[in-house]
Amino acid sequence: MLAAQTVYPFVRLEEAKRRRAAAGVTIFDFGMGDPREPTDDRIKGALVDALDETSGYPAAVGLPELRTAIGAWILRRFHVDVDPERELIPTYGSKEAIFSFAQVVVDEATGKDLVLVPEPAYPVYERGALFGRAHVETFPLTAESGFLPDLDAISSSALERMALLWINYPNNPTGAVAPREFYDRLSELAVEHDFLVCSDEAYTELWFDEPPASALQARDRERMVVFNTLSKRSSMTGYRSGFVAANADVISALRKYRPSVGTAPQTFVQRASIVAWSDEEHVERNRRLYGRKRALLLELLERKRFRVAGSRATMYLWVEVPPGETSETFAEHLLAAGVVVAPGSYFGPAGEGYVRFALVPTEPECAAAVEVLEAVL
Ligand SMILES: Cc1ncc(COP(=O)(O)O)c(C=O)c1O
Repeated sequence: MLAAQTVYPFVRLEEAKRRRAAAGVTIFDFGMGDPREPTDDRIKGALVDALDETSGYPAAVGLPELRTAIGAWILRRFHVDVDPERELIPTYGSKEAIFSFAQVVVDEATGKDLVLVPEPAYPVYERGALFGRAHVETFPLTAESGFLPDLDAISSSALERMALLWINYPNNPTGAVAPREFYDRLSELAVEHDFLVCSDEAYTELWFDEPPASALQARDRERMVVFNTLSKRSSMTGYRSGFVAANADVISALRKYRPSVGTAPQTFVQRASIVAWSDEEHVERNRRLYGRKRALLLELLERKRFRVAGSRATMYLWVEVPPGETSETFAEHLLAAGVVVAPGSYFGPAGEGYVRFALVPTEPECAAAVEVLEAVL
């Protein structure tokens, strides 16, 4: 099963970057969405304070205080009351929970064995579904439809077989945002055809105009399974801390599955996470910082007459490549000058024709990269 999967595309990008750096070129890395901003001091302090003499296995259900803090955050942010005891479970970041979800809930014997995934997309939805021995079909996200799926285009046979449908707004890689009504419509469809909507909400906090909605705000949230994380909101990728919010049956299945895998965040990380979910000041600071970096790049790209599609929220800019270039050739062209971007094709064939800038270099690095790009674009 593992051998059948191709190399995770970013591994190839890392190799190309290393070769360029070895040739003495200064690298500005807009490739992977791994924030390099410092984590807030209060969060770091909470982690250090929680380091005890002894360190036992963390329970899969997580600290009750952490679940309460997450529940309180969801209430403040989305005005939805989620039961911390029955409808929430902390996760080791969100990637592992996204990857393993099909394994936990898809049961071939029921005839519901199809997982629908967007394309372009974060590759883990598809990889996880294949690993869970589910069938996978993709649906395209195009600029014409605002990078939202055309729900009417899902065939009736797919609707019948579908166990899970993955969505991700604000979207990686396109930066598109879904309106609140989109979730209402999806939840109706999910009830009608008995499937779960898996909503990856890793980027809900990186916005620049108005706060994006959550699938939890759908009129009927019974079939909504929400994955969120501190990685981007609080620049805590290395801590590995997120959560799943869903109905009590789904959470109960995860409570049964997760102790076998052992992916609860360490207790000291959970203590730091309580501080992170309880504070918005550092998140606002983070948003302002991304806003400034975004303005630097947008000014240049617009002046050079590049089309920036989607890109309303997240740390990404989804940029059309110039005529005559493919995603890969344009990315190679930029890499020659030391600027690393992710070719859109890494996210699936519908990503061809775009490159993605992840605004993760520091503000001074972004300013220096703009000078380099000024000369090569
Ligand atoms: C769309 C999306 N979902 C989920 C994740 C996983 O983040 P983490 O496992 O750090 O929570 C990422 C990370 O880049 C992402 O881009």
